[in-house]
Amino acid sequence: MNTTILSHPIISHKVTLLRKTDTASKDFRILVSEIATMMAYEATRDLELQDVSITTPLQQMTGKEIAGKKLVLVPILRAGLGMLDGVLTLLPSARVGHIGLARDHETLQPIKYYYNMPKELDKRDVLVLDPMLATGGSASAAIDFLKADGCKRIKLLCVLGAPEGVARIEKDHPDVQIYIAELDERLNEHGYILPGLGDAGDRIFATK
Ligand code: PRP
Ligand code: URA
Repeated sequence: MNTTILSHPIISHKVTLLRKTDTASKDFRILVSEIATMMAYEATRDLELQDVSITTPLQQMTGKEIAGKKLVLVPILRAGLGMLDGVLTLLPSARVGHIGLARDHETLQPIKYYYNMPKELDKRDVLVLDPMLATGGSASAAIDFLKADGCKRIKLLCVLGAPEGVARIEKDHPDVQIYIAELDERLNEHGYILPGLGDAGDRIFATK
């Protein structure tokens, strides 16, 4: 199984606040961002390090630094933007690419409306950000586009995952490690996660 469910009391507490109907958009945004920071901490646990020679005020030593090219963060628009600042808190030098996908509300199929990535994707670790993994259609399509563009090392960070979405990514992209804060029960007939938190994009941006 390629899925890590983050198990941490602070994350559980914040996800519960996120789910509540009466959590205002300004608090919702802060919570998504805070959870994203904690998820990024976990998802970067295995980053490769290299030795670097440095001088402290007292002597020379060999320290460790993250090896290779800067990571790329790819929020899936719109709702993925809600996670971006939280991850940049931890990785301020990361590059940022954007994929605009919207689910057709009838067919639930993702429609691409924007794509813009930094250079040399094939040499970089990529973290795809989207708070919601429902059918998995959007995340799977985003990963397809990234792979077609040369990405080889991709991780997917979602706050809530439905079993259907997790299974879809594990099937379509067995090489992609998935990180979710909580695994929910199922999807309803409209493709919404139950118990879920509603429409993440609308709650982050106070639309509808
Ligand atoms: C939501 C969410 C995911 C997608 C998940 O986006 O942010 O991208 O649905 O559903 P799936 O796993 O079934 O594809 P939405 O299409 O509502 O767009 P938005 O982020 O612009 O609100
Ligand atoms: N997208 C959302 O924003 N919420 C869901 O429950 C499913 C997809």
